[in-house]
Amino acid sequence: MAVCGVNFSTITQPRPQPCYPSLSLSSSSSSSPLNSPKSLISQLSFVSNNPNLSLRRDRTLARSRLRAPNFKVIASANKPEPLKIMISGAPASGKGTQCELITQKYGLVHVSAGDLLRAEIAAGSENGRRAKEFMEKGKLVPDEIVVTMVKERLLQSDSQENGWLLDGYPRSLSQATALKELGFEPDLFILLEVPEDTLVERVVGRRLDPVTGKIYHLKYSPPETEEIAARLTQRFDDTEEKVKLRLRTHHQNVEAVLSMYTDITVKIHGSVCKEDVFTQIDAVLAELLEQRQATSGSFAAKKM
Ligand code: AP5
Repeated sequence: MAVCGVNFSTITQPRPQPCYPSLSLSSSSSSSPLNSPKSLISQLSFVSNNPNLSLRRDRTLARSRLRAPNFKVIASANKPEPLKIMISGAPASGKGTQCELITQKYGLVHVSAGDLLRAEIAAGSENGRRAKEFMEKGKLVPDEIVVTMVKERLLQSDSQENGWLLDGYPRSLSQATALKELGFEPDLFILLEVPEDTLVERVVGRRLDPVTGKIYHLKYSPPETEEIAARLTQRFDDTEEKVKLRLRTHHQNVEAVLSMYTDITVKIHGSVCKEDVFTQIDAVLAELLEQRQATSGSFAAKKM
């Protein structure tokens, strides 16, 4: 299947930039892997029962696709509720990469369970020491460590004021249930779909910049300068052997988590280049935000 002018069979080859996208989105409620953008709009209208909040059906996401990808969203006078988004997918499906692009444009607070755990390890805390034992085996870190850690981050004022983008959490039914009981309800659940052989290649080639926190890939997203290349590090769990264990854990839990968010799930083709993955996500977020701003505007108009 050709996506952004590239055949899937050649997807492991670096592509010239810029890539021009072919938008294709699917909703979780269908057995078909690819649904039309219209069905996505129908799916997203379940976000709220309020008819004022449903996405307008007379427009297609094609319009969103034509928007320049790099503009910055500016808050309107009647500030709508901030967005609350979850992003999920197998190891190396591109969650962190997309979070960089989403936060850059939408100003949401990126809360990554994996990053929070690695920060605990780096700090040498007791939680970090215990977490590392599980992470080295590709297993989920116990809830008594992760649930509190994520809850505290979500309750901080920046997350509350600007909205949040929760990365790699929840990863089990118990985490999803705990989050719900704590009152954290997302507006949208993004699932990145990437074939398994691509995931292994992405893990093995991933490198991190300890100074900026930016994610690189030796082949697909190489460092811009020699200076950056010299300081790149590799994660302790980024080996072929460990990613297979992480994948197994992912497969054991993903369906249970998805079952909690069926009505707000959007599935994204994660195997195209990162700019094209972002274009798909951006279209959905822009639509959601626009609908929200329209609603807050109409509420303000009613008050006058
Ligand atoms: P975590 O750090 O969350 O790891 P993960 O889920 O395995 O995901 P990754 O961070 O490996 O990948 P990613 O999807 O962010 O991909 P990225 O954008 O970097 O968790 C680590 C561990 O912590 C877990 O195994 C577990 O033990 C524990 N843990 C975490 N959350 C937990 C929870 N909720 N409960 C309990 N335990 C928990 O991209 C990967 C590479 O691909 C990069 O090199 C990137 O440049 C490249 N790339 C990205 N997109 C593209 C693209 N479109 N085309 C080509 N290359 C691309």
